[in-house]
Amino acid sequence: MTHPRLWLVIPAAGIGQRMKAECPKQYLRLNGRYILDITIARVLDSASFAGCMVALNARDQWWPGTESAADGRVRTCAGGKERADSVLSALNALSDVAGADDWVLVHDAARPCLHQDDLGRLTATLKDHPVGGLLAAPVADTLKQSDEAQPPAVVSTVDRRRLWRALTPQMFRLGALQQALESSLAAGHGVTDESSAIEFSGKMPVLVEGRSDNIKITVPSDLALAGFILGQL
Ligand code: C5P
Repeated sequence: MTHPRLWLVIPAAGIGQRMKAECPKQYLRLNGRYILDITIARVLDSASFAGCMVALNARDQWWPGTESAADGRVRTCAGGKERADSVLSALNALSDVAGADDWVLVHDAARPCLHQDDLGRLTATLKDHPVGGLLAAPVADTLKQSDEAQPPAVVSTVDRRRLWRALTPQMFRLGALQQALESSLAAGHGVTDESSAIEFSGKMPVLVEGRSDNIKITVPSDLALAGFILGQL
């Protein structure tokens, strides 16, 4: 039996409304480079991938000018309405060249600060696991449950001991993830990450503890923070 290969999927079809920028957040620049290029290069250079599929927005006008567009390991496909649609579209495009049991690592385009050690721990922990899993960080702050008043008031303090923040990469078998996303989308089940689709299919993904500085650029102030973190890695 051949060993399952590792593929990278980058959903990059979002328009990043929360950034209020002129271009989608993955095309903002840090030290003169697109965030998307930093993200893709960091991941692809840190493990042995068979290839990478990037899901792009139909109105994307920046991709041809990226470093990644000239990288022979990287292919593109059309993204979809939601992140889950974009990931499913990338998996469908990959299934022409990849096997159902191959591993797929899905990583947000706007998470440029992934540490090589985290990627190594994720793949080493899960390589023989039947389901797969994701990088996640334990919740550090005290969590409050609110009512619906304006302004909201505290109803209770939530026990955070078993609460985690889901990060990416998330690592699952191509065929299982494809089926899980299709079923979740058909059922109208909200899918904000790959793990939630796999959970919906009745399986239990493994949480692999990752660094909390693997941030997703979401609001403008995150850009400077990402620059600082990258300078320390
Ligand atoms: O908007 P958010 O930060 O949750 O997006 C997470 C990732 O999913 C980003 O890399 C974004 O480009 C991608 N995405 C996508 N297709 C969509 C929406 C978001 O590929 N329709």
